Amino acid sequence: MKQPIDWLQVLIQCRSNVQRQITPLLTTLNQPQPDLGIGAGGDAIKQVDLIAENAIINTLEEHELSFTVISEESGIKECGESPYDCYVTADPIDGTTNLMRGIPFYATSIAISTKPALNTVFAALVADLFHGITYTAQKGVGAYRNNQKITPSKETSLKEAVIGMDLNTYKIKEMIPKLTSLIQETKHIRHLGANALELCYVADGTTDAFLDFRGKLRTTDMAAAWLIIQEADAIITTPEGKPLNARLDPKQKVTFIAVANKKINKIISALIKDDKKEKK
Ligand code: IPD
Ligand code: CA
Repeated sequence: MKQPIDWLQVLIQCRSNVQRQITPLLTTLNQPQPDLGIGAGGDAIKQVDLIAENAIINTLEEHELSFTVISEESGIKECGESPYDCYVTADPIDGTTNLMRGIPFYATSIAISTKPALNTVFAALVADLFHGITYTAQKGVGAYRNNQKITPSKETSLKEAVIGMDLNTYKIKEMIPKLTSLIQETKHIRHLGANALELCYVADGTTDAFLDFRGKLRTTDMAAAWLIIQEADAIITTPEGKPLNARLDPKQKVTFIAVANKKINKIISALIKDDKKEKK
């Protein structure tokens, strides 16, 4: 009989191999980099992204697993005899610009699902590779940070809350009207440059919300964090407050609000709705 797969253990091995494989590159990142073309997700591929991706795929293959990989760099690849057994959605390095510039905030992100759909993710890992912090989650079992169960914050005041917003878009003029009231009411706004990790910060109470309204973030970047948020009992919805689901595909983009608790969700949602009304 086939043994059940210990996905957590496999994911942790993937993280360790990514870490091991990229470490020799870290001292040469300020030197000219080879032109490796554009990845499936639409961004220029860096050598470090490819090495991290290979480390993940090789680890899964060492376990003799069959799977379809959905990755930001190489796109969709079928591996093994029954590739539709499960789907591995990976952003090998989330926060590549941070890593290349020496900003210590970047992660590897891997989600396992039964179908190429966000709401079928059942195991996930997001690992902060600089600080050695690993977030994991399994469906129905909770979310963990270095093996300690995590819960989101209970903060309800926008004067105290720390709210992440990704404003990194050339279409900022279209986006700002939706966010003006919230920005005006929020004392502490952040964007740290690796959205998978920023979502985990909401899950473990480091921050209180994270919003990405750009329509630019790929599902490959946030599939793992989606489960970590759910399992920590934080909330992630569309900007309209509907359950968030999307196809897992490097070209599929999402917009969302992730929040720590229902009360702050209500406050943030009301401010966003106010802006929508004013615009009409
Ligand atoms: C990027 C980061 C960044 C976000 C970009 C993403 P990448 O991921 O998550 O915070 O603003 O839109 O592309 O490209 O480094 O995997
Ligand atoms: Ca990436």
